Amino acid sequence: MTIVTHEIDYAKAVKKLKEEKNAVILAHYYQEPAIQEIADFVGDSLGLAKQAAGTDADIIVFAGVHFMAETAKILSPNKRVFLPDLEAGCSLASSCTPNEFAEFLKQYPDHVVVSYINCSAEIKTMSDYICTSSNAKKIIEAIPKDKKIVFAPDKNLGRYLINETGRDMVLWDGVCIVHEAFSFNKLLELWKQYPGAKLVVHPESEADMVNVANFVGSTSAMLNYVKNSNATEFIVATEAGILHQMAIENPTKTLIPAPSKEDNTCACSECAFMKLNTLEKLYNCLLNETPEITLSDEIIKQSLIPLNRMLALSN
Ligand code: 13P
Ligand code: SF4
Repeated sequence: MTIVTHEIDYAKAVKKLKEEKNAVILAHYYQEPAIQEIADFVGDSLGLAKQAAGTDADIIVFAGVHFMAETAKILSPNKRVFLPDLEAGCSLASSCTPNEFAEFLKQYPDHVVVSYINCSAEIKTMSDYICTSSNAKKIIEAIPKDKKIVFAPDKNLGRYLINETGRDMVLWDGVCIVHEAFSFNKLLELWKQYPGAKLVVHPESEADMVNVANFVGSTSAMLNYVKNSNATEFIVATEAGILHQMAIENPTKTLIPAPSKEDNTCACSECAFMKLNTLEKLYNCLLNETPEITLSDEIIKQSLIPLNRMLALSN
């Protein structure tokens, strides 16, 4: 007996559907390589937000996590926005619930509230400014020196910003589970094997990693640093998905993922939320136009205010 299977060439099928429906696919650097390959734009959180704000497509398929797709909806409310897997969340966003954050803010009524873009739309409505890791320093420095600041939800990025700007900030106690998983001791051991390597670290990482890094920056900034550096070896401390783009841009350089605290078989440097999206789910999402991101007009109106302040300061 011959079993005939009708396997779908998802990459080809997605391209066809995209044209038929005038859709754009925006993907974060942490998405699996197959998704990055078919995306119209691959970028960091700020780059993706700008693309979402400026697109003339009718449909945005966001290959990233929930807060990113929500941000796209806020910035382009007349477009339909889809996320291949609605469960694709973020440990930072889920650490900061609207009720708890409202209680927390009651203690600091005279503070300016700056929230990292990795938070829900409700948290954005309670914020004065939004920032990403690529513009956070600029946003903090734009706030008058006599103003006190609450920064949420990433305490590691917050601590990094306190060191960089000298500002006194109250921090919400949230972390990125991926960047928390890197092992500083194992990193030092690894560095002994590659003494000439440059250490490139995302600011969501813990202080010991950030303090010894040769470069600290957002995913896009890390890519630029590696591309423009004369060094030939790099230890990379961020989610492993970035290595796809980094290897394309730097075919002759050696890229070494930073080691995690768990045993060496653990894929801790992969974001389980980001990796919920697959090419098959992306295809189904575009085909069936679900799951869709919906937000009330009021949430969109209120969360647009701090997002627009960020975009105005990011040019
Ligand atoms: P950036 O791409 O802005 O550096 O953000 C990293 C991240 O963790 C996104 O979830
Ligand atoms: Fe959130 Fe960290 Fe995953 Fe980014 S890598 S989505 S910050 S859990």
